[in-house]
Amino acid sequence: MKPFARHRRLRRNEAIRSMVREHHVQVTDLIYPLFVVEGNGVKEEIPSMPGVCHFSLDRLDEEIDEVVDLGIPSVLIFGVPNEKDACGSSAYDENGIVQRAIRRIKERHPGLYVIADTCLCQYTDHGHCGVVEDGEIDNDSSLELLVKTAVSQARAGADMIAPSNMMDGFVAAIRQGLDESGFTNIPIMSYAVKYASAFYGPFRDAAHSAPQFGDRRTYQMDPANAREALREAASDVEEGADLLMVKPGMAYLDILYRLKERFDLPVAVYNVSAEYAMVKAAAQNGWIDEQRIVMELMTAMKRAGADLILTYHAKDVARWLRGGMIG
Ligand code: PBG
Repeated sequence: MKPFARHRRLRRNEAIRSMVREHHVQVTDLIYPLFVVEGNGVKEEIPSMPGVCHFSLDRLDEEIDEVVDLGIPSVLIFGVPNEKDACGSSAYDENGIVQRAIRRIKERHPGLYVIADTCLCQYTDHGHCGVVEDGEIDNDSSLELLVKTAVSQARAGADMIAPSNMMDGFVAAIRQGLDESGFTNIPIMSYAVKYASAFYGPFRDAAHSAPQFGDRRTYQMDPANAREALREAASDVEEGADLLMVKPGMAYLDILYRLKERFDLPVAVYNVSAEYAMVKAAAQNGWIDEQRIVMELMTAMKRAGADLILTYHAKDVARWLRGGMIG
C-alpha cells in the first residue's frame, strides 16, 4: 500500500491538539457594545437581544464594573437620545448622552478603553446617517457634523473614534478635525467596509435608528460586492485610518480575510445584532449548544484574520474563557 498522510496523529489527545492549534480567542480580542439611554434607574433588556440591555447612566456603573471584572479591555458606546432633529444635534452636544456616558465611565475606570461610535442615525429624526437635502443623504454637509461629533466625543474622554456612517471622506475629515483640536493621539477605527445588511435589524430596534424613509443603500455597500470592499478600505487607509473594520461578521468572513491579506493595519470584525439574535433564539429553543457555537464563531473570525471582535457575546465569552473553555 502506498504511504498516506496520517493527519490524525496530531489529533490524538488534547495536549497535542492544543500544541498545534493555530488560532486562539483571548479576552483581549473583545470589544463589548453598550447602549446608553436618558433617564434614571433604567436597565431594560432589548427584546430581540436577550442579555443585552439599555442602561441609564446610574445603572451603567454596575455593567461597567462587570465588564472590567471579566477582564474585557474595551467597550463601544452607542447613545439613544430623547431628542432627535433634522441635523442630529444631540450627537455633538457636549452634554449629550454619549458624552456624559464617556465621562462617567472614564471617571470610574480610567483604564477601560472607551470607543465612541460616530454616526448620526440615532440622533436624526429621519434616521439616516447624514444630513438629508432634497430627499438625498448629502455627503459633504454630513462630514461637518460628523467631525463635530467625533471632536466632542474625544473631548469627553473617548480613547478611540469609530465612525460608522459610510460617508465618503469621513476618515480624512475626522482626522483633520481631531488633529486641529489637539487630539492627534486619538486613533480612528474606520467602519471601512460596512454592508447594507439585514443583519442590523435588532440594533435598529435597540438604538431607535431605523431610517424613516428609504434605506441605507446609497451609502452602505452592496452585499454582492467584494472588490469594492478593497477600494473602500484602501481609501480609508490613505485617509489615515488606524484600524479597519468589516461589518457584519459571519456572512462576510471572506471580506475580512481579503482585507487582512491586503492591508497591514489591524482589522476588526463586528459580530452584529442579528448574528447574536439568531444564536440566542436557537439556544433558547434548545436547538444548539450556545457555548460551543459562540466559541466556534469567535474562532472562525480569528482564523479569517480578525485582530479584534466587537460582539454582544463578549461577557459570556470572557466567562467561558476564564472557566477554561478553549477558543
Ligand atoms: C450606526 C450603526 C449600526 C450598527 C452599528 N452602528 C446600524 C446601521 O447602520 O443601521 C449595527 C450594529 C449591529 O447590528 O449590531 N450606523
